[in-house]
Amino acid sequence: MFAVHLLAFYFTKLKEDQIKKVDRFLYHMRLSDETLLDIMARFQAEMQKGLGKDTNPTASVKMLPTFVRAIPDGSENGEFLSLDLGGSKFRVLKVQVSEEGKRNVQMESQFYPTPNEIIRGNGTELFEYVADCLADFMKTKELTQKKLPLGLTFSFPCKQTKLEEGILLSWTKKFKARGVLGTDVVSSLTNAMKRHQQDLDVDILALVNDTVGTMMTCAYDDPYCEVGVIIGTGTNACYMEDMSNIDLVEGDEGRMCINTEWGAFGDDGALEDIRTEFDRELDLGSLNPGKQLFEKMISGLYLGELVRLILLKMAKAGLLFGGEKSSALHIKGKIETRHVAAMERYKEGLANTREILTDLGLEPSDADCIAVQHVCTIVSFRSANLCAAALAAILTRLRENKKLVRLRTTVGMDGTLYKIHPQYPKRLHKVVRKLVPNCDVRFLLSESGSTKGAAMVTAVASRVQAQRKQIDKVLALFRLTQEQLVGVRNKMRVEFEYGLKKDTHPRATVKMLPTYVCGMPDGTEKGKFLALDLGGTNFRVLLVKIRSGRRSVRMYNKIFAIPLEIMQGTGEELFDHIVQCIADFLDYMGLKGAQLPLGFTFSFPCRQASIDKEFDLDIVAVVNDTVGTMMTCGYEDSNCEVGLIAEGAQDGEELERNLGEEQGVAQGTGSNMCYMEEMRNIELVEGDEGKMCINTEWGGFGDNGCLDDIQTQYDKEVDEGSLNPGKQRYEKMTSGMYLGEIVRQILIDLTKQGLLFRGHISERLQTRGIFETKFLSQIESDRLALLQVRRILQQLGLDSTCEDSIVVKEVCGAVSRRAAQLYGAGLAAIVEKRREDQGLEHVRITVGVDGTLYKLHPHFSRILRETVKELAPQCDVMFMLSEDGSGKGAALITAVAKRLQQAQREH
Ligand code: BG6
Ligand code: BG6
Ligand code: GLC
Repeated sequence: MFAVHLLAFYFTKLKEDQIKKVDRFLYHMRLSDETLLDIMARFQAEMQKGLGKDTNPTASVKMLPTFVRAIPDGSENGEFLSLDLGGSKFRVLKVQVSEEGKRNVQMESQFYPTPNEIIRGNGTELFEYVADCLADFMKTKELTQKKLPLGLTFSFPCKQTKLEEGILLSWTKKFKARGVLGTDVVSSLTNAMKRHQQDLDVDILALVNDTVGTMMTCAYDDPYCEVGVIIGTGTNACYMEDMSNIDLVEGDEGRMCINTEWGAFGDDGALEDIRTEFDRELDLGSLNPGKQLFEKMISGLYLGELVRLILLKMAKAGLLFGGEKSSALHIKGKIETRHVAAMERYKEGLANTREILTDLGLEPSDADCIAVQHVCTIVSFRSANLCAAALAAILTRLRENKKLVRLRTTVGMDGTLYKIHPQYPKRLHKVVRKLVPNCDVRFLLSESGSTKGAAMVTAVASRVQAQRKQIDKVLALFRLTQEQLVGVRNKMRVEFEYGLKKDTHPRATVKMLPTYVCGMPDGTEKGKFLALDLGGTNFRVLLVKIRSGRRSVRMYNKIFAIPLEIMQGTGEELFDHIVQCIADFLDYMGLKGAQLPLGFTFSFPCRQASIDKEFDLDIVAVVNDTVGTMMTCGYEDSNCEVGLIAEGAQDGEELERNLGEEQGVAQGTGSNMCYMEEMRNIELVEGDEGKMCINTEWGGFGDNGCLDDIQTQYDKEVDEGSLNPGKQRYEKMTSGMYLGEIVRQILIDLTKQGLLFRGHISERLQTRGIFETKFLSQIESDRLALLQVRRILQQLGLDSTCEDSIVVKEVCGAVSRRAAQLYGAGLAAIVEKRREDQGLEHVRITVGVDGTLYKLHPHFSRILRETVKELAPQCDVMFMLSEDGSGKGAALITAVAKRLQQAQREH
């Protein structure tokens, strides 16, 4: 009995001594709680640095956006292929994710070796090898006939701008293949697969880091999971970050998974105070010296080696093995993590230690075994401590992002060190809980690796891809080829000729109305004039004072509202109201009762017998707004001989209807053009001398069916729902009010197809006219962040997600782009005609432009100009914005008419 006690005492004493000895020797590796809290704070700062746009380039912890935005919701389904490359084992898998939300996943897999010649050889060969393995897998599993989407788990730091791309930033761990750095891994693999065209038909839809795969795998079973940690060959973590904190990705909505790449923590020197001589020595002998310094203190690839370096040093110092060293102990990599794990086993630990040391050619005493075991403990404990500190930083960040006092969360775990080491998980959990006492953390081991999660990401990607294809199909309808645009230009040209010729005019769709405006201002005009501007977005009354010789004009104007009951009343009531407004205005200007010549901009097509016949005597000129615009610009630039209106959405839809019915004129023009034509070409008017302005009324272009080939179903719907079906086809493809309606029709269709607004067609979306030009312009503005677009849509009553907003923006873009191009084709037709009529090789023409679409839309004017340039290369077209609206032009026309009248009387 005594002997037993004595032995126990002896052993305890021996153990204590050995432990004290090792503790003393490895003093620097034992991190106090204080140090851990300090490291935790440092890592918090690193994360912030990596997330910031300006600080990211120099940050060592890269905080890479992964483009994985949501954890699985159970609706994922389908059959997928998966590759898992970069951990200790390379696997190819087929994953079947069940349908009907049953949360059931079936996997078949096959391991393939990764020999050093392959993973440290030539990059092309590495990818060819991976493709070969995949092809082999397809053959053995009899999958060659299937087209399957593939998700690639690739456990290295990759920069992503989308899910299906990954630019390799650096090789880590055991890999170092040439020619891959800085290139896209997905396209390299896609290229390599081309050699197997016969039996490989796969589409790589997603690239995910193993941490992301792990998090997603665990999240499939536990929706609280929002962190993924790997402690295996390498170490790393990912977590769900608020989009508003991710500077590198546009959008503020929701969250995105960030791959921290924490293995590189310390690469900028941030951990020098805790690194030991062993860490430095290990680093020097590694494949990537100076890199992944945090990882080298933690992960499986390095732990055994750290232990070996320590044992060697202790032996040299005579602290172990009686100062003897074996040759095996000198060989790099001789002690592996699995050895460390075995030596730390509870019961068999010491026996294992003896066996392992003996295998290394050493002759360990009991004391040696105890000491070596303790070395292992210190090294692996430090690893767990460091991981815990970084993980605690992430958890704190999550808690703060959510503004919670207590956070309840789950961390998905994987990696061989974590899985096979007997004490590791317990120690890690304990330290994390100590460092963040205000977090209730559940650690969930991913039993099935990262593949299940990668398949979830692929499933979502494949759904998005299918939807994308449907959306692209719709948008493609609005993309006009150069050939089609040339066709439009040529057809427009034909219509011009039809409208001008006496015998074809009655049937012409582009009416080419003579305006009796024959002269441009010459600067000698003078006097006071009244002008009315009716038909645009506003109704304005103006007093225009023209001073001769100085080309200077002073204007006073007042905007009047036209009350709804008057807009919807008779034409007579409308004109009574207008007369009242004029009287008010004169009163307001102190000119009560004055008889002033009046010019009237009336933006609806009317056939004029002569310029002043339609109204009472004091109305000298009724002009179309295009003519007013041309005149306004012509006063400044004598080259101006075209007037263009690209109007916005009108509030006065009802106004139009009334005017249309009562006054016997066609519908209001949103899109129109006028120009100066040679009198000899105008068959409807006597005389061959000089020029006259023609109001083309080109909005009616296409009414004979000549644009049917480019009309979409949406154009047809808009036309059918309009007040004048079958009429003004060109205008309905180009002017603001209709553009909004086309957009609305497309959105309704996409929603019906389940591609937008969660498939829900809201009442708002069914409301005509919600997309006014100003909204289109705002939505398409490049300066707006996605979130702002979303806000505009919400203001419009459309409850949209971020993805919805992107699609809506694209739809608006496609529709307005086509409009600008069609405008350009029409304009090209007129400038070409002018060039040919004058028999010139080259011509310079100024186009006076007005209208909110042209003025406000962020891209319209640019695309219009580009199209004209392409379709009329021999014409040098200048665009001049009419700053003063067409009221000034109306006054000028009146002045010119007065001048010409006077001249006639004097003769
Ligand atoms: C596996 C995952 O379970 O763990 C891999 O499927 C991951 O994606 C690996 O890379 C990490 O651990 P180790 O120890 O194999 O590097
Ligand atoms: C104004 C002109 O500037 O533009 C009006 O004065 C014209 O005559 C109008 O009708 C067209 O643009 P919108 O987009 O305001 O209707
Ligand atoms: C390395 C890689 C990282 C990976 C980790 C775990 O740190 O750089 O991408 O997640 O190992 O495998």
